[in-house]
Amino acid sequence: MITGASGFIGSFFVEEALSRGYNVTAGIRKTSSRKYLQDERINFLELDFQDKKLLKNQLQKAGKFDYIIHNAGLTKTCNPKEFYQVNYQNTVNFVEALKDNNQVPEKFVFISSLEAYGPGKAGTKIPVKDEGRPQPATQYGKSKLKAEEYLFSLQNFPFLIFRPTGVYGPREKDYYLMIKNLDKGLEIYIGNQPQYLSFIYVKDLVKLIINSLSTNKCCKAYLVSDGNTYTSEDFNRIVKEKLNKKTIRFSLPKALIRLMAILNEKISCLLGQIPLLNRDKYYIITQSNWLCDNSDIQNDFNFFPEYDLKKGLDKTIEWYKNQ
Ligand SMILES: NC(=O)c1ccc[n+]([C@@H]2O[C@H](COP(=O)([O-])OP(=O)(O)OC[C@H]3O[C@@H](n4cnc5c(N)ncnc54)[C@H](OP(=O)(O)O)[C@@H]3O)[C@@H](O)[C@H]2O)c1
Repeated sequence: MITGASGFIGSFFVEEALSRGYNVTAGIRKTSSRKYLQDERINFLELDFQDKKLLKNQLQKAGKFDYIIHNAGLTKTCNPKEFYQVNYQNTVNFVEALKDNNQVPEKFVFISSLEAYGPGKAGTKIPVKDEGRPQPATQYGKSKLKAEEYLFSLQNFPFLIFRPTGVYGPREKDYYLMIKNLDKGLEIYIGNQPQYLSFIYVKDLVKLIINSLSTNKCCKAYLVSDGNTYTSEDFNRIVKEKLNKKTIRFSLPKALIRLMAILNEKISCLLGQIPLLNRDKYYIITQSNWLCDNSDIQNDFNFFPEYDLKKGLDKTIEWYKNQ
């Protein structure tokens, strides 16, 4: 079963699992879009993570799952409390319901985020490694870390945690906005410092995680990237080349972006819209080092990505154009 199956990454989990011959259940909400869940082999299960009693009933009716990928998560909201409800409390409710129902799977994968660990040391190209104390700075990252800590506190519960860096690919909507700006001829940077970034193409991510299900690895958290070091300029250059566009380059001061983030958050939330640029996002886009070490996934799962940023963006942009 894959929760959050209606979302960007979730829909790719479903496709990859089906292609491997798994009997796949998409865990969704009543309101979830099924646009990318059209394959007739998919079973659907509506889950209400907030209502524990109902959740237990819904799970019981579906029967025991061999593997669960808990991918449902909230990445943007006007109300930071919602991050804790969805990313942390819903995970607790889900695990408790599985335990109460005697439905603990062979493997329970929790999709966390590099943000639960926090960025690397500013001004360096040293990638974060899974050692020392995580230091998330965003509410989103803190809520994911809280869920991770809960999983680590459990006895006899076979979990794996994956902390992907920025995931891109077809159907994704945030990097899409950056690509659209470049298509309009706008190449935007924040401040004058180089920004080091890591990425993972969605198909490499889902393959890695589906592979991990049938291994004996357990009870560990893994950082996930394609292992390369990129700069924001690399991203823009690859997109410009693919689109064959000339751009005007802007370097906006951090203080201006911060002000825009605060105003945009206030206005969007007042209008009942979820802001794309907010204070959490400001923090993310102004960090100079989002590199992460992927040696653990290489060692434990023999992970070698098929896509680097150029190959992945090529595929992604082709998809955006076709759609
Ligand atoms: N994209 C990235 O760069 C990235 C990086 C690191 C980690 N992640 C993690 O990867 C997971 C998937 O992210 P995504 O990028 O695919 O985001 P997405 O497209 O927004 O998908 C999120 C999914 O979670 C579901 N969901 C949200 N709130 C829920 C709730 N209260 N109850 C049940 N389901 C809920 C959504 O269901 P509806 O369709 O019904 O809204 C959707 O299926 C998340 O856990 C995210 O934190 C993403």
